[in-house]
Amino acid sequence: MISSGSVERTLVLVKPDGVRRRLVSEILGRFERKGLGIDAMVLRRMDDRLADQHYTEHLAEPFYPGLRAFMTSGPLIALVLSGDGVVRMVREMVGATDGRRAAPGTIRGDFATSGRENLVHASDSAENARREIAIWFPDLD
Ligand code: PPS
Repeated sequence: MISSGSVERTLVLVKPDGVRRRLVSEILGRFERKGLGIDAMVLRRMDDRLADQHYTEHLAEPFYPGLRAFMTSGPLIALVLSGDGVVRMVREMVGATDGRRAAPGTIRGDFATSGRENLVHASDSAENARREIAIWFPDLD
């Protein structure tokens, strides 16, 4: 039997600024053109409870109230991407947290000029990806 290797999954959010700015197809197109698979996707609005669950590691950060207000300000796209080494690959495609410092060629580097409104969330580890996917897509096999 031929093994398909270690196919990984990651949770991506196109944040409310990405939906408002009509950048959904641009952002999803980059992941598709890269060759990543989309295993699940939904347009949904985050409420405070979901924000607190998703960002559980950051609840005590001084920036968290502003981050939560932004993330609940409008609909977002949640999706699960899959591929070998996808967690790290997607983080590199998204770029540094602050759009003003993100490298050209990355999503944030090309389209964001803000530290808060930075267009995309992507899981930062395989462990966090599993935790986040369970929150957003509890029925995904
Ligand atoms: S990252 O991308 O996880 O390495 O970023 P990190 O620096 O650890 O930040 C964690 C999440 O907090 C967001 N963040 C902020 N939001 C608003 N204002 C400020 N100043 C700020 N600094 C960091 C950052 O975008 C991360 O959210 P996600 O959704 O993971 O991108």
